[in-house]
Amino acid sequence: MPPSPDRRHGRTSPGAESSDGSPQLAVVATGVVEGDPLAGLDVRPVPPPTPSEDEALVGIRAAALNHHDLWTLRGVGAVEHCFPLVLGSDGASDGTVVYPLLPCGMRDVCHGCRIGNASLCRRLTLLGEGRDGTMAPSVAVPSSHVLPSPRNLTPVESACLPSAWLTAWSMLQEAEIDRTSRVLVTGAAGGVGVASLQLGKALGATMVAQVRRPEVAPRLLAAGADHVVLSGDDAKADTGGEFDVVLESVGEATWASSLRALRPGGTVVVTGATSGPNPPADLRRIFWRRLRIVGVSMGSLDEMRDLIRFVEHHDIHPVVAATYPFAAAREAFEHLMRGGFVGKIVLER
Ligand SMILES: NC(=O)c1ccc[n+]([C@@H]2O[C@H](COP(=O)([O-])OP(=O)(O)OC[C@H]3O[C@@H](n4cnc5c(N)ncnc54)[C@H](OP(=O)(O)O)[C@@H]3O)[C@@H](O)[C@H]2O)c1
Ligand SMILES: [Zn+2]
Repeated sequence: MPPSPDRRHGRTSPGAESSDGSPQLAVVATGVVEGDPLAGLDVRPVPPPTPSEDEALVGIRAAALNHHDLWTLRGVGAVEHCFPLVLGSDGASDGTVVYPLLPCGMRDVCHGCRIGNASLCRRLTLLGEGRDGTMAPSVAVPSSHVLPSPRNLTPVESACLPSAWLTAWSMLQEAEIDRTSRVLVTGAAGGVGVASLQLGKALGATMVAQVRRPEVAPRLLAAGADHVVLSGDDAKADTGGEFDVVLESVGEATWASSLRALRPGGTVVVTGATSGPNPPADLRRIFWRRLRIVGVSMGSLDEMRDLIRFVEHHDIHPVVAATYPFAAAREAFEHLMRGGFVGKIVLER
């Protein structure tokens, strides 16, 4: 028996059924249970959203998972008043992919909105955070957020782009990576890490992957890494010298070694804190060696368009760790929480 529809989403409409008549499922956050984010996750039918005048309805073939979805299930970002809420910031249909950032639009008070960069919006939300997201048969988004997907990609591959890949692209742009750059990538087997390796390699940089599991090395070398080093090893000594840039997404566990790996004047670009957000800052090293520390989260609409062009031009295919049917979304999220994969985990229908 299918799960019953919820209060806010009402009854399942005929539009939410697949060709064999079975209801198409959505992944819904229903509540927050301290210490058990998946307790508040439900997979159930929902009716199609009703787009407003300046919005478009996008049928979803594939939706990638992100830690952001887990944060929503933990109630981070004061999202509980939106529950039940369809999760998912990343989604693609046949031929289109969605841009997931929803800026406040208050140009008079918001610098990011004034300069047209949603990733700098002071009151930014994402699809699947302040409003229903992509893990459903269809999603309503601002029309400007519907972009043609790279022609070389399947919907599953395109669904990897909106969050992890856009973030990796903006990190590489922020650090002004070019053919001369030596780049160390922490958490290199994860969604952001593998994207950084694949994109950085196509930009011509020397890409060094830092991981904590040696068994992933062959897959990372195949994805574009020039070298793979283990966390705790001396990446400089093992791979030919200091780094111009470190792309840091692990946080506390790797911060000290990331700073030590940089040349004077080098840059660490931070986008995550998987192992914790408060490492010792090591201020002396930062000023004495004139290091730059830059934060990046997601990217602008223009950066997403550039990413799409770049991926198509270089025929890059995002590494997909696993796909799951929407009905198995719980297993997919358990996989994300367990870790130990290479690339992105994606739901598909
Ligand atoms: N996805 C996005 O769009 C996005 C955007 C902005 C920021 N972020 C943030 O960036 C971080 C990474 O995101 P992701 O999507 O790449 O996550 P992910 O796919 O889960 O990958 C995380 C990686 O970090 C490694 N790792 C975890 N703890 C570690 C530790 N203590 N020491 C060394 N390595 C460790 C994992 O290693 P194993 O392979 O051994 O498990 C895994 O390869 C998260 O904090 C996320 O919130 C993500
Ligand atoms: Zn704004």
